[in-house]
Amino acid sequence: MATLRLSTTDTALSLPINPDQNLLEHCLAADLPVTRSCRNGNCGRCDSSLDAGHVRLRNDKEINAPAIIPLCITFAASDVSISKIPMLALPSHWRCQWQNPMLLRLPAGRQIPPKQGDICALLMANAIELNEIANIDGRNIHLLLPTQNCSEQDSLSLIIIDREHHGEYSLFREHEGQQTRLWKNINHRTALAAQAAYQQHPESARYSIHDLDQELDELS
Ligand code: FES
Repeated sequence: MATLRLSTTDTALSLPINPDQNLLEHCLAADLPVTRSCRNGNCGRCDSSLDAGHVRLRNDKEINAPAIIPLCITFAASDVSISKIPMLALPSHWRCQWQNPMLLRLPAGRQIPPKQGDICALLMANAIELNEIANIDGRNIHLLLPTQNCSEQDSLSLIIIDREHHGEYSLFREHEGQQTRLWKNINHRTALAAQAAYQQHPESARYSIHDLDQELDELS
């Protein structure tokens, strides 16, 4: 059976080719959130790079690599490699409301929720806790562990983090002349994601990222 190789910025996949499915359908069946709209070869949203192989369009036109192809109307005619697949951008953080220490609720509206099994950081006004998403049920996000600092009147931000997020940076909050270290020993990427999420909180605090050297200078 012929093989379809898909490479994205995050992953590389090899799938058996089903001759009855177009390449967009293969990607979606593999849970790749490819951008798409018309599914007719017109809008160009699913255009991707054919790096190797031979394909056939819905109108029977044959194309050999290298070429740019609309996945939605393309069928593999040999082993095929595709890259530069355009992906839907996932939200980088979610504003949520507490329901109880193990349950958060997303606001009404259309948004792609986080996924079951995601490792998440819960960004509260004065604390950050790590948790894991046990289950998503509509707008409800069930957490694996009870949260210690939950204040049910307050909303919070949730960001998805890499389990390997350790590093030499800290995130600080400055409010009414007081500086508090919210998170320490994180990498720069995680610190930036948390800072960006906090900066959208409706309050006047300031958030800054310090590296270890900066902290040692401040102490000396
Ligand atoms: S979805 Fe419009 S070109 Fe593929």
